[in-house]
Amino acid sequence: MSKHPSPDGIELNYKPKLPRNKDYGIGIVGAGDIVLNAHLPAYRLAGFRVAGIYDINRSRAVEAAQRYGIGKVYDSLEQLLKDPDIDVVDIAVPAKYQWDVVLAAAASGKHLLCQKPLAESYQIASQIVELCGRSGVKAASNQQMRWAPGIRACRDLTGRGLIGAPLQATIQVNVHTPWEIWPWIAGIETLEIMYHSIHYLDSIRSVMGMIPEYIYADGARYPGQGVTGETRTMIHIKFPGDARGLIHDNHNNGMPQDDWYATFRFEGTEGIVKGTNGALYNYPNGQGDTIGYYSKLLEPGRLYAPKLEGLWFPHAFIGTMGELLCAIEEEREPENSVRDNLVTMQMMFAAYRSMAENRPVYLQEIAASVS
Ligand SMILES: NC(=O)c1ccc[n+]([C@@H]2O[C@H](COP(=O)([O-])OP(=O)(O)OC[C@H]3O[C@@H](n4cnc5c(N)ncnc54)[C@H](O)[C@@H]3O)[C@@H](O)[C@H]2O)c1
Repeated sequence: MSKHPSPDGIELNYKPKLPRNKDYGIGIVGAGDIVLNAHLPAYRLAGFRVAGIYDINRSRAVEAAQRYGIGKVYDSLEQLLKDPDIDVVDIAVPAKYQWDVVLAAAASGKHLLCQKPLAESYQIASQIVELCGRSGVKAASNQQMRWAPGIRACRDLTGRGLIGAPLQATIQVNVHTPWEIWPWIAGIETLEIMYHSIHYLDSIRSVMGMIPEYIYADGARYPGQGVTGETRTMIHIKFPGDARGLIHDNHNNGMPQDDWYATFRFEGTEGIVKGTNGALYNYPNGQGDTIGYYSKLLEPGRLYAPKLEGLWFPHAFIGTMGELLCAIEEEREPENSVRDNLVTMQMMFAAYRSMAENRPVYLQEIAASVS
């Protein structure tokens, strides 16, 4: 590797990989906010083929079909599953309904992209993994922040050894989140980690390339908040050896957006990479991610700050579906398989047990709870 790369640093490999064949038929189940604003825009950008859509509220499926030129609106899940033109079922319903859809879809022999979180209990998440394994279908999770440009660029640098041995991962977020946009979230008791910081748990372990040992977490509410669950969290992640992770999140920032921040930083023995998560700035439109890195293995003391293309929403959704389609094409396990996602689920449930019992909780405890 050149010790003197261009002012932008080395050429980073952070964009989602696409399958050679983009003709796989995608059938979407659930036509809500995330499908309209992330799945469908991403698939259009990538050139993926959405063959049909189904929602228990038919008018939502019709609206999505009209906006995105989708040929078929199904009257039932069974109809979608019987359609030979559908290769992949893309599930985007609230987590508590996901198991029923997976049960029917796996029996149909179609491949699956499950929504995150996989389930609201570790038991059901494990059942999903076991069922998909038995059915022989490829099943992936839509835990897509791994493919957000800034995070993927960090992973590329870490994977090439440019920051040396990873020692510290830190994600800090202080914003205002309008939870009222998602009415089904209002009464949920496990809110912030299950529906938001789960992305940071998954991203951190993806960049660090290690499975954590234990989690120590705390969660709190904010006076007058309009939702039931925790909206401020601090999560300490213990990796093997001296590596550590920290997530510090507050969703109640009442100051002007100038005061908001959403940053990440990964430190290793040979360098650091740091940046901002653009999706949480200039809300709700977002802005590009930024990164900057130093590496003793390149020109020591020099900050490289390449420009990145794309956003977490929607571009990272090309990553999750693209990886599943590539895995089908290449007859291999997807990187974001539901089995891989079980580790992220263990981290999340360990965080909640830690909060409840005020102690570090080993991932192994969660894994063993359903043996
Ligand atoms: N991957 C991400 O980053 C991300 C981001 C936001 C939301 N989500 C997840 O996506 C899911 C949906 O979120 P949303 O914001 O689109 O919610 P939403 O309420 O806007 O949409 C959910 C849709 O699912 C439909 N639905 C419910 N049960 C169904 C069933 N059994 N069969 C078919 N349709 C059904 C509803 O009618 C509704 O149209 C949630 O699980 C949420 O956690 C993921």
